[in-house]
Amino acid sequence: MFKDFAGMSQAPPPFYLGFASSALQMEGANATDGRGPSIFNTAESLPGHGDTSAVADDFYHLYPIDIAAMQLLGVKHFRLSISWSRIIPDGDGAVNQKGLDFYARLLDALRAAGIEPLVCLYHWDLPQALQSNFGGWASDQIVPAFVNYARVVFQALGDKSVYWSTVNEPINFCFLHYAAGMSPLFIHDLRQAWNCSYNVLRAHAAAVKEFRAAVPGGRISMCLNSEWGQPLTNSTADADAAQRRMEYELGMFADPIYKGDYPASMKQRISFLPKITPQLAHDLNGSMDYFGLNFYTAVYVAADEGATCLWGPCDFTTSQTDKAGNLIGAEADSSWLKFTPWAFRPILNWISNRYHPKEIVVTETGWDVKGEDAMPLAQALNDTSRSNFFRDYIPQAADAVNIDKVPMTGYFVWSLLDNYKFGSYAIRFGVAHVDYKIKQRTFKASAMYLAGIFNSSMANESLTYPAVA
Ligand code: BGC
Repeated sequence: MFKDFAGMSQAPPPFYLGFASSALQMEGANATDGRGPSIFNTAESLPGHGDTSAVADDFYHLYPIDIAAMQLLGVKHFRLSISWSRIIPDGDGAVNQKGLDFYARLLDALRAAGIEPLVCLYHWDLPQALQSNFGGWASDQIVPAFVNYARVVFQALGDKSVYWSTVNEPINFCFLHYAAGMSPLFIHDLRQAWNCSYNVLRAHAAAVKEFRAAVPGGRISMCLNSEWGQPLTNSTADADAAQRRMEYELGMFADPIYKGDYPASMKQRISFLPKITPQLAHDLNGSMDYFGLNFYTAVYVAADEGATCLWGPCDFTTSQTDKAGNLIGAEADSSWLKFTPWAFRPILNWISNRYHPKEIVVTETGWDVKGEDAMPLAQALNDTSRSNFFRDYIPQAADAVNIDKVPMTGYFVWSLLDNYKFGSYAIRFGVAHVDYKIKQRTFKASAMYLAGIFNSSMANESLTYPAVA
């Protein structure tokens, strides 16, 4: 898939680029063709929750124009996720053929357009019934339910895509939803979050076994997110703390998978860490055919004895400002996101050196422009800081590939369209603007900028997004 990416040496480099998306954030049509509710739909119905995902980008109906738009941009890859409750409305019971038919149509249409999909089974939208019946990912019962869902999908759709992933950003959905009390679950329970994290490893390992049997020649992984941890000062203690932070955030999943156990730094500090049994280590071994990385930004890390993080005792703290109070990078719209292109090369090297993956695919990266939602359309379309994100981040990855020989083979931009961010439409990451009232999409300047990177002959083109009928 990404073969031609290797050996690239021009600037800007001919990266194999695509766009990433997720079901709940794009599709809408929540009650259409037999889809069951997910935990987000339940949260959205609570008083005062904010926007709902009921319509989103209406990708469920409008995907043909979005595929046509990607063709115009010269895009060859598209990452999407499947809504579990479209396939099995109550999570673990009868299969909904109409749900499978939708994804079959979508995957066929992508391939007919020359766009290779990368399909994720789970981007956070748990069927509500599984949370109500047994507590979702916090319970062992999630493992057979997920494996059953995966088997149904692989058998029905396995021949329609080569590239797959099991779950997206498990550290986030486990710890934000089960420990940090965030929407959609509002649970504050570190034990449940750790059970979730352990059950993710078990479910992933078992689903990959199913995958090997059902999709010969397919490539599967997990999409892991991490910030780059930059030592706050030159002290050894801060350097160690930054290393530890990387081990916690990526190592929680990647170490058991690639090394058969949790990092020693976590084992020393977290007394209630689950045990990776020899059988689980064996099953996890080789279960990531490529390393899926979602990378956006960096944080400063300082040693701080006795400090506790969201994941448990950790002896470090993080911040977005240095000792003089300077921000680590210019601001995006999302408060967690700062402009840190210099962090891209070291994180790719860190992964390459620690895990020696055959391929690293950046499965998400992107930028939301500060204040964009409140701007008049013409101003929103002139999204220079988003183009600058690609202009400055991509050469860092190119150096990692060309100079450091990091085997990065793909780069997926979040996202083609502005979309629903779990409770809000105000957070806009698209290279195409969406007018949510009429669903019309309009390319922003950054879409043209990316098209020029995909294909230098398109550098100064001005393209028009296909119209919504
Ligand atoms: C998530 C996406 C989200 C994006 C931008 C990522 O961490 O996977 O679902 O929309 O961040 O906030």
